[in-house]
Amino acid sequence: MKNKVAVIILAAGKGERMKSELPKVLHPVCGRPMLEFVLDTVRDLKIKDSVIVLGHKHQEVSKVLRSGIKTVIQKKVDGTASAVKIALFALGNFKGTILVLYGDIPLLRKETIAKLIKHHSANDLDATLLTANVDKPQGYGRILRDKYNTICGIVEEKDADEVQKEIKEINTGIVCFKKDKLISALKQVKPNNRKKEYYLTDTFGIIYNNKGLLDSVKVCDVDEAMGINSRIELAKANRIMQIRINEELMKEGVSIVDPASTFINFGTKIGQDTTIYPFTVIEKGVKIGKCCSVGPFVHLREDVEIADRSFVGNFLEIARSKIGSGCFAKHFCYLGDSSIGDNVNIGAGVVIANFNGKKKNPTVIKDNAFIGSDSILVAPVKIGKSAKTGAGSVVIKDVSDNTTVVGIPARPIKK
Ligand code: UD1
Ligand code: CA
Repeated sequence: MKNKVAVIILAAGKGERMKSELPKVLHPVCGRPMLEFVLDTVRDLKIKDSVIVLGHKHQEVSKVLRSGIKTVIQKKVDGTASAVKIALFALGNFKGTILVLYGDIPLLRKETIAKLIKHHSANDLDATLLTANVDKPQGYGRILRDKYNTICGIVEEKDADEVQKEIKEINTGIVCFKKDKLISALKQVKPNNRKKEYYLTDTFGIIYNNKGLLDSVKVCDVDEAMGINSRIELAKANRIMQIRINEELMKEGVSIVDPASTFINFGTKIGQDTTIYPFTVIEKGVKIGKCCSVGPFVHLREDVEIADRSFVGNFLEIARSKIGSGCFAKHFCYLGDSSIGDNVNIGAGVVIANFNGKKKNPTVIKDNAFIGSDSILVAPVKIGKSAKTGAGSVVIKDVSDNTTVVGIPARPIKK
């Protein structure tokens, strides 16, 4: 029988160890708040009953939530057990399995959670924990097992003795409970620990002592289990997520010459047979067509679109711009707030001066235009179809179709 599942996501903590004004779960992993990855997993698992526990700066955090997810506020952030208690209230009469996820575990895959839920339901367990065997267990709760190798409790790092600290099997924090067993165990949780908090992890020892049925599922890829508490862990998670993003793109037919030096944000679209050269940073919302060439040393900022068969490379920054097909911008340029047609050639060193000290202004470059090396286009400005600007010109006025301008300020010349 398929058991119904409700999920509780814990995201009330401040994230002290991040030492940041930004709530921990909003810190980006590959350009996206880490909490959003957890929300994706819940969506992909098609779990309808969901509650998220927010606390620290909850208004800010709630901005990334989607509709359909219930929110409860934990006023006093005094432990994961308290957080789960509050969430259970919000679930009302729900009957079935309670899955607990933490907002700071963005690398966890939905297949792993599905495996945990399946094991829990199939064996009619009272609680099933996702554990991992790691070389460096520092910072994680350690799994305690009895002489029959059954889980009999979890001890937090701060409360562990020297022998327990040697245990390499850790608590990922991801767990399934039978709702009624969880409720009765939570009633017995006491803040008898170094942090004086109500630990959800104590429910395991309690259920064991009540003769409950406990088991665990091991996560195969230990990277998935990583909880992010510090900037060091954040950087590690970024690297792992980046590998996933790059590999996904390569599977779809994008060539990435050196994945280790290519930083592509989550949600970027790149067409088949496009090549990305080293030292390229591509931010979120960027779309690149087929058969393009990007880099080396290119920074494509948010909301850049590049159509098929265009080449952008060698020390370029492009921001908020659309570039048509068959364009070339190959040598050190800044292109900002621009709309560029098809088959446009942008010479070396071209700068679009989009900011006048007060606001950003738009630039339009029409099809087949030729922008000479070292031109400065002072926005707002329009360059007509098949128009040309001479090398070193400073363009402050619109240029008509088929016209060539030169000089400072640029003036039309007869051909
Ligand atoms: C927790 C586990 C630890 C496990 C590790 C896995 C507990 C007591 N410890 O430790 O065994 O190995 O995760 O990464 O559970 N939160 C709330 N309300 C609170 C406290 C925390 O919502 O009152 C949220 C946090 O925002 C966070 C999550 O719960 O998303 C985990 O809290 P955190 O402080 O990061 O716990 P760890 O010390 O990492
Ligand atoms: Ca954590």
